[in-house]
Amino acid sequence: MSKRKKLDINTLLRENIKNIKPYASARDEFTGVAQVYLDANENPYGSIDGSMNNRYPDPYQTNLKQIISPIKNIPVNQIFLGNGSDEAIELLFKAFCTPGKDKTIISSPTYGMYQVCAETNDIQIIDIKLKEGFELDVDAILDIQTKETKILWVCTPNNPSGNAFFTSSIYKLLDNFNGIVVLDEAYIDFSDEPSWTTNLQYYDNLVVLQTFSKAWGLANIRLGMMFASEEIIKIINKIKMPYNINGLVQDYAINAIKNGEAKKNEYVLNILAERKRLETELIKLACVEKVFKSDANFLLVKTTAPKEIYSYLISKSIVTRERSKLHLCEGGIRITVGTPLENDILLKSLAEYKN
Ligand SMILES: Cc1ncc(COP(=O)(O)O)c(C=O)c1O
Repeated sequence: MSKRKKLDINTLLRENIKNIKPYASARDEFTGVAQVYLDANENPYGSIDGSMNNRYPDPYQTNLKQIISPIKNIPVNQIFLGNGSDEAIELLFKAFCTPGKDKTIISSPTYGMYQVCAETNDIQIIDIKLKEGFELDVDAILDIQTKETKILWVCTPNNPSGNAFFTSSIYKLLDNFNGIVVLDEAYIDFSDEPSWTTNLQYYDNLVVLQTFSKAWGLANIRLGMMFASEEIIKIINKIKMPYNINGLVQDYAINAIKNGEAKKNEYVLNILAERKRLETELIKLACVEKVFKSDANFLLVKTTAPKEIYSYLISKSIVTRERSKLHLCEGGIRITVGTPLENDILLKSLAEYKN
């Protein structure tokens, strides 16, 4: 059970965000079904292609959130939907970190967008690198925190190492970090570990990110989720662009998700079986020194010659991700788990590689 005291989110918010009046869109001011809509300067006739895309969409995606809510067991008012979870990352910086003043903590090697968004927002990055075995250096993170370190980013399972972090490490951070702790669970569907969303009720400083881009197979529609306290979601809603999820995506996602959970679970089982097979087969190859344990839909593989092997695979029209320059990733190539056929092609090509 949490030792956490109640956190006053206001003390973390950017000064200019505290009293900001959000843009009130036409569809904010009137909800329900009207006889005549003359409020939003839309084209009343319809769309040029005969479709009915002439009206602005629901700015808060209520119908879609009502589908997601029971699947994730999280109330609608604790859900934010973004144009990919990347949008949520950007908005968290915008809400909590004052450019040129505040700082953020990451633990490399990790997902690159935390750094990109921090840099574009002029937020100083403190990198408390992962320890050997890709584990969080919890004590170093807690030692270095100050009033300015507003957000801590923890990607679990982590990209590119693939491992989920120790539960005890994350509890210690949630209990003792003074700012927002963002747990990025983009790969949670592939992990044996449960989601941290069940802890939202205990930790006011917890934000969980998930996405429809991975297990659900909907990367093309760009739909990410942020789960947090109602208070944090209200703040993010205040500063987001009014119609950040377009109506086509909202309708598409409602249908796909409503009927898609069984298929998603089937995909996950297939991917887990193929991950296991790849793990077993890759380590037998002469050019592979180590396959790191993965809780995600990819494997970090230590190879004998990462640059050469990456280029060789490209020459065979197989694209992987060369990660060897990253901290603790010497020799590293990140390989997404493909279909059985794709994995066969990869394994056959790697078996033919001459060191
Ligand atoms: C850890 C992590 N978080 C977030 C994302 C972005 O997800 P989305 O497609 O929802 O923007 C990715 C994409 O690869 C990722 O690896």
